[in-house]
Amino acid sequence: MSTADREAILVNQQAILARFGELALRSDDLDEILTEACRLVAEALQTDMAKVMELQKDRVTLVVRAGVGWPPGVVGEARARAERGSSEGYALQTGKPAISPDIANEKRFRYSQFIVDAGVKALINVVILGGKDRPAYGVLQVDSRKPRDFSDVDTEFLRSYANLLAAAVERLRIAAETRKHATSLRESEERYRMLATQIPQLVFTCTSTGERTWDSPQWTEYSGLPEKNSRGLGWLDAIHPEDRDATMAAWTSSEAQGEYAVAHRIRRADGAYRWFQTHARPVRPEGRTVTWLGTSTDIEDQARIREALERSGEELERRVYERTAELQQALDTLHVEARERSRAEERLRHSEKLKAIGQLTGGIAHDFNNMLQAIMSCLGLIRVRMQQGRPSDVVTLVERAEKGAVRAATLTHRLLAFARQQTLEPRLVSLDAIAHDMEDMIRRVVGASINVELKLGDGVWLVQCDPNQMESALGNLCVNARDAMPDGGWLTISTSEVILNEAEVADFEDALPGRYCCIAVSDTGTGMSQKIMEHAFEPFFTTKPSGQGVGLGLSQIYGFVRQSGGIVQMQTAVGKGTTVRLYMPASVQREDVEEHSTGPGKTIMLVEDEEIVREVTAEQLREQGYRVLEADSGAAALRLLHAGARFDLLISDVALPGALNGRQVAESVRQRYSRMPVILVTGYAPGDTPSDMEVIRKPFSPEVLAARVRAKLEQSQAGVD
Ligand SMILES: Nc1ncnc2c1ncn2[C@@H]1O[C@H](COP(=O)(O)OP(=O)(O)OP(=O)(O)O)[C@@H](O)[C@H]1O
Ligand SMILES: [Mg+2]
Repeated sequence: MSTADREAILVNQQAILARFGELALRSDDLDEILTEACRLVAEALQTDMAKVMELQKDRVTLVVRAGVGWPPGVVGEARARAERGSSEGYALQTGKPAISPDIANEKRFRYSQFIVDAGVKALINVVILGGKDRPAYGVLQVDSRKPRDFSDVDTEFLRSYANLLAAAVERLRIAAETRKHATSLRESEERYRMLATQIPQLVFTCTSTGERTWDSPQWTEYSGLPEKNSRGLGWLDAIHPEDRDATMAAWTSSEAQGEYAVAHRIRRADGAYRWFQTHARPVRPEGRTVTWLGTSTDIEDQARIREALERSGEELERRVYERTAELQQALDTLHVEARERSRAEERLRHSEKLKAIGQLTGGIAHDFNNMLQAIMSCLGLIRVRMQQGRPSDVVTLVERAEKGAVRAATLTHRLLAFARQQTLEPRLVSLDAIAHDMEDMIRRVVGASINVELKLGDGVWLVQCDPNQMESALGNLCVNARDAMPDGGWLTISTSEVILNEAEVADFEDALPGRYCCIAVSDTGTGMSQKIMEHAFEPFFTTKPSGQGVGLGLSQIYGFVRQSGGIVQMQTAVGKGTTVRLYMPASVQREDVEEHSTGPGKTIMLVEDEEIVREVTAEQLREQGYRVLEADSGAAALRLLHAGARFDLLISDVALPGALNGRQVAESVRQRYSRMPVILVTGYAPGDTPSDMEVIRKPFSPEVLAARVRAKLEQSQAGVD
């Protein structure tokens, strides 16, 4: 090669270097720079193939990053390995150009397949260095499809060219890295800016003693303090004067605790204070505290709620206290009122009692006075007649006086009946039979204008009562019915058997639930007002004109029925009529009455209310070998009787508590077992006992009792009464 040629080549290469240098400085596009580098280098070395291979992170793999003169599928894809025995590896490891003028005769290196396939015959590799302390970027390879030499000039040129290329690549790398950093910095700045400006808290940074170095716009906006005024301790100006000491005091311990926390009021731009919770923590990027980052959170609502809760707690307590006091007062008043009411009731009861007694005594006095008047008048007239020597008229007067006396006696009788103190002579009777027997008499009494109807049962069930009193009661009820129907009507007498439960007898003292026989008298008369009904059973209460009613009818009936263990009920409606029902305890069915004791064993029914006496007597009898049925009252004895108890001898005390005395018990027993032997026991004079019954007087010895019982049973067995 001539010098001129050399110089021409050099000039050309210099020109290409300059062109490339210009491009490398101007362009920011790495691909453009690399491709242009390949094109220019090929031109400079008068060949048509060149490429840049980029070394990958594994520092062995090379990828064809750019190239000219290559078939498709090479640039961007073809790979080579920079190993020992490869020209690329040689260049990278030694830093020297690896020159293969004719690869067919090359002994040192092997070549990648894509190079061989592309028909490359000669090539030269130069290293593209990396930046400072960085690995090489890769290899610039200039290829030739013809074997050829690469002169020193070429090699020199390529070195310079590769260095220029390396500088350009490094510049772009740094630029890209800087861009990346800048972007992520911008992003992170944006994030923090958003965080600091968008969160509802007021954010600040400060020193460990609370001197502000930065405030978020929220602080400035909220407090209305210009930014520079908040710096240092200027922000304290926005803290409520009462809270400033605590606010500053919290900083003294914050360093040690690694935390600052205080609740204080911060003034809003409009002058209003709101409660905030302020927190700060040291930021320690490299272990030492650079700054403190803090936030103030509005807690006004919570504070208000808490305050309201505290207030409402106190309010509740106060109201409970007041209400308790009110209730106590109301309770006291109620107590006083209750006491007053019960006193008033007591007074009322007392006055009503007095009124009733007054009515009773007045009634008695009035009636007795009338009768006494009649009797005394008669007696006076008798005296006059006797003095006049006109004894003939005397008989009439005596009869009249007697009538008055009898009426007076009847009156006392009715009073006793009301007082439930009349001597009753109960027997087992059928209410059906009594009503039936009285039918004619009742029709006569009530008169023709009143229709009488009897609805009676079959008389199977019997009751234990005084038949005369029952007749009188029925008569009285019929008279009342008649008086209530002055213009006629219907009078119905009906009987029935009912079972009364606990609730139905509850209003009547001593009445037991169970089976009852009921006789009812109904009329279609005037009925009674509430007021009359309330008083109808009181003695001497009457609405009838003087001479027509005494006011003792219902009270007498009530006394008699209650004394017999029964119940009285009245139903009435003004203008519609009245029904009075008498419930008598059912005793027994008729067929049972006919039965007789036939048992072979000797059983004694012992009726005695004194427990000790009864037990001792029973014991004595049992010693004698008798069976003993014990009863502590007449009623108890009758219950045993009606329950079907069988016995051979009745021993009963005469004086018994309750409705039945010993004699009545004996009579009741004899109604069922007519030949029942009876021994009555009495502590009184024998006069109070009937002569037809054997009496043994207290006190008696066991021997006497044994002898009398034996004798009585023998008599009865022998058929002697
Ligand atoms: N069936 C009835 N219908 C309406 N009122 C009645 C009836 N039975 C009683 N009375 C009212 O009850 C009052 C009291 O009755 P009670 O039988 O006790 O006395 P009386 O009939 O007035 O007098 P007595 O019966 O002593 O002759 C009667 O005066 C009457 O007002
Ligand atoms: Mg009457």
